[in-house]
Amino acid sequence: MRIGILSSVLLAAATTAAAADLTSPSGAFALTVDVDGAGTPVYSLTYKGKPVVTGSHLGLTADEMDFGKGFRIEGTETRSVDETWQPVWGEYANIRDHYNELAVNLKGGTPERVMTLRFRLSDDGLGFRYELPRQDNANYLTVRDEATEFNFSGDHTMWCIPGDYDTDEYLFSETTFSDLEKALGSYRRHSEAQRTGGTTIQTPMLMKTADGMYINLHEAALVGYAAMLLDVDTKKHSMRSHLVPDCHGVKAYIQLPFNTPWRTMIVSDDARDILASQMVLNLNEPCKIEDTSWIKPMKFVGVWWEMFTGTQKTWAYSDDYRAKPGVTDYSKLPSNGRHPANTENVKKYIDFAAAHGIDGVLVEGWNEGWEDWCSYRKNRQFLFDKPYPDFDLEHLRDYAKSKGVKMIMHHETAANAVDYERQLERAFTFMKENNYDAVKTGYVGAIIPRSEHHTSQWMVDHANYVIDRAADYKIMIDSHEAPRPTGLCRTYPNWLAQESARGGEFESMGGNPPSHTCILPFTRLKGGPMDYTPGLFETRLSTYGEGKTGQAMTTLARQLALYLTMPSPMQMACDLPENYERFADAFKFIEDVPVDWKDSRYLEAEPARYITVARQDKHSDDWYLGAITDETPRMATVSLDFLPKGEKFVATVYEDAPGADWKENPQAYRIREVKVNSKSKLKLNLASGGGAAVKIKKVN
Ligand code: NOJ
Ligand code: CA
Repeated sequence: MRIGILSSVLLAAATTAAAADLTSPSGAFALTVDVDGAGTPVYSLTYKGKPVVTGSHLGLTADEMDFGKGFRIEGTETRSVDETWQPVWGEYANIRDHYNELAVNLKGGTPERVMTLRFRLSDDGLGFRYELPRQDNANYLTVRDEATEFNFSGDHTMWCIPGDYDTDEYLFSETTFSDLEKALGSYRRHSEAQRTGGTTIQTPMLMKTADGMYINLHEAALVGYAAMLLDVDTKKHSMRSHLVPDCHGVKAYIQLPFNTPWRTMIVSDDARDILASQMVLNLNEPCKIEDTSWIKPMKFVGVWWEMFTGTQKTWAYSDDYRAKPGVTDYSKLPSNGRHPANTENVKKYIDFAAAHGIDGVLVEGWNEGWEDWCSYRKNRQFLFDKPYPDFDLEHLRDYAKSKGVKMIMHHETAANAVDYERQLERAFTFMKENNYDAVKTGYVGAIIPRSEHHTSQWMVDHANYVIDRAADYKIMIDSHEAPRPTGLCRTYPNWLAQESARGGEFESMGGNPPSHTCILPFTRLKGGPMDYTPGLFETRLSTYGEGKTGQAMTTLARQLALYLTMPSPMQMACDLPENYERFADAFKFIEDVPVDWKDSRYLEAEPARYITVARQDKHSDDWYLGAITDETPRMATVSLDFLPKGEKFVATVYEDAPGADWKENPQAYRIREVKVNSKSKLKLNLASGGGAAVKIKKVN
């Protein structure tokens, strides 16, 4: 859906052989583009007169042709666009896309090559891409390297995760250029994943300059190309693109004409602007799905956390590791008795969802193949239309329907993407036949084909193919271990959420410090919503049974706040129904909180420290507010001046009680009601690792 309610496009063309300049609509940003003595394109960017990127080279190398030197500027074109569009779901009902654009047309070399560099400068920052038209001497390119440089002006603070071709499930380091090597050196290499080593990092990453400028670096619209990592020169304070290769060292096989993904920098001297920016979405293509009425934001519970706790529960039905999906007669295998994806247990979740107005129930471990799912020597792991004998799919389908609850499908592929493509049509048909409209996909382990990586071109193509086919079947997707998002949910709004970062599951595997959810919105979330799986009420792992120790670094009230600070149209309530029954008054907030918004206001923010955000429900006049902090307790003082003047509201505050603390007293929360209006100020008590959530309901 894309309805421009205001659209003005000004066109001006100028042919020049000289350097080209562009400013953003307000004039805050200024860009210069030129070619150097070797004919290599160079760009630089300033924000309010201060350098963001100093003279940095651009170029691409392919086996067939070099697009890195020998160019002259043939001409430039500029235009201005100001339009507003309506996403199917999101943080805002209306998104303004207002930018000035510069296209620099380059020519040169023998044989002659042509390339356009397109720059879009908004008041949020810069996006640019390489556009490669069909060449006189080449229709196809084998891209070996993209040499996009980002030279920065100082030893900035940075928040980043190590370069890895296969996973982004890392904690962020808070470091500087100078200390980066040390910071990354402490990371353990993921078992089956490919770490780049050295000082390569992933995007989205964030920097802060000594004088308080914030810079988010990422990419938009990753289609038909490999994901971009960044090689960091810690002495020169510079970065250079590092595309994820295939086993031949090739980064992308492209057919001309071709546009690369946008390289993006969101920049501001106010941290809240980084969170509010919709620039990455704006740089993506409009929605490709004509009828979007079937795309429905949702909350869900699921047979999931049981497998992460100390209760020894398994996704697998049996303990026989020789069992083969499609070959073994599972009805003849004994159950291991620790398989929660069974009919009776699933009904409990359905009953719970129905009683509490939760839209869906996810069930993991329902299908054949989990006995040996982590094996490296796998060929086929799963069948996506074969339930285990103790999961009565038809009965559960009808039962869920009778209760008004949607079942959510689970397709763990164990990274056998080839086999998933073979089964895809059958799997999606099976879903629709059985009343499933949404699927959580997963790619745990090493990719098949073995030569590929989770973020190489092949897997980027795979993920985009799956989302496109899913749209044909009217299926919504929540993908785990897929290439990190780059705003493609604008084009495919059936891509409700992705994991693609270290999520809540790690609370059972070493934990996520509270700063983690204070940095994710500044980094990973700039690409799109995350299925973080909030809602953990019982944080002490030992209470679940034997086998696990440790504790999630969060208070209960903070878990409520995450529904606001980690916005997603597909939001899980991850804990067990019995834990929610124990804290039914707090669970009321999860029942009430929407997952789709008319408006959002970032009220307080500092990366990895704290975030306070207010959002207006898309379908009512009610507002919701969430505030989180790191391990430092704080009092969030927020003015409610975003409320309409003269209207009355009642705020229900869920906050850490005095004495609450993630470690010693995580379940100490208090709930209070206050009458408020646009002149009110709220003080919210946030404990160490804590948070607060507020429902602000309009009253007559
Ligand atoms: C990893 C996913 O992130 C997690 O949510 C899921 O439960 C497991 N894979 C099993 O598919
Ligand atoms: Ca995962």
